Amino acid sequence: MTKKIIRIIAHTPSENVEAMRQSVIEGALSCNLQNIKILYSSPFNIAHGDLLQSDGIILGTTENFGYMNGALKDFFERIYYPCQGLMEGCPYMLFIRAGNDGAGAKKSVEAIASGLKWRKIQEPLICRGPWNTNFLISCEELGKKMALGLDVGIY
Ligand SMILES: Cc1cc2nc3c(=O)[nH]c(=O)nc-3n(C[C@H](O)[C@H](O)[C@H](O)COP(=O)(O)O)c2cc1C
Repeated sequence: MTKKIIRIIAHTPSENVEAMRQSVIEGALSCNLQNIKILYSSPFNIAHGDLLQSDGIILGTTENFGYMNGALKDFFERIYYPCQGLMEGCPYMLFIRAGNDGAGAKKSVEAIASGLKWRKIQEPLICRGPWNTNFLISCEELGKKMALGLDVGIY
């Protein structure tokens, strides 16, 4: 049986953000679904050929200078034209860690995802303000939701 691939693409410049990424992965893995494969990597290490082999995408970024972080921007700059027209409807989710805002990171990612015609399956998770361990629970739920939704075929 061909497994559905969830690709988690996040740059994690701090311990907190790395913990968020881990929670997303753990959430997806916790469902223990035979039909689902979870792959994760830094935005710097993904080529467009890899991306095309994805059934669902989870992006993670910090907000830096009112925008997505540079690593995720580099990723989009490399894959945008090679993937244009080839990933229509691909379900995606986004989690953001922001010191005090997050709106700029959200807007910047959504504009590009919309250009690629990816399908947003929930409002981005924005973890803003002082660090709170509840952020990890939200990240876990996000990973779980993608895994379960792909497994039952609703995404
Ligand atoms: C260069 C730089 C620019 C930043 N710009 C923003 C920003 O525009 N908006 C915001 O809410 N946070 C901003 N931050 C805060 C980061 O989003 C935050 O440090 C990051 O999410 C890591 O969070 P942590 O302290 O929980 O590890 C910036 C941080 C850095 C290092």
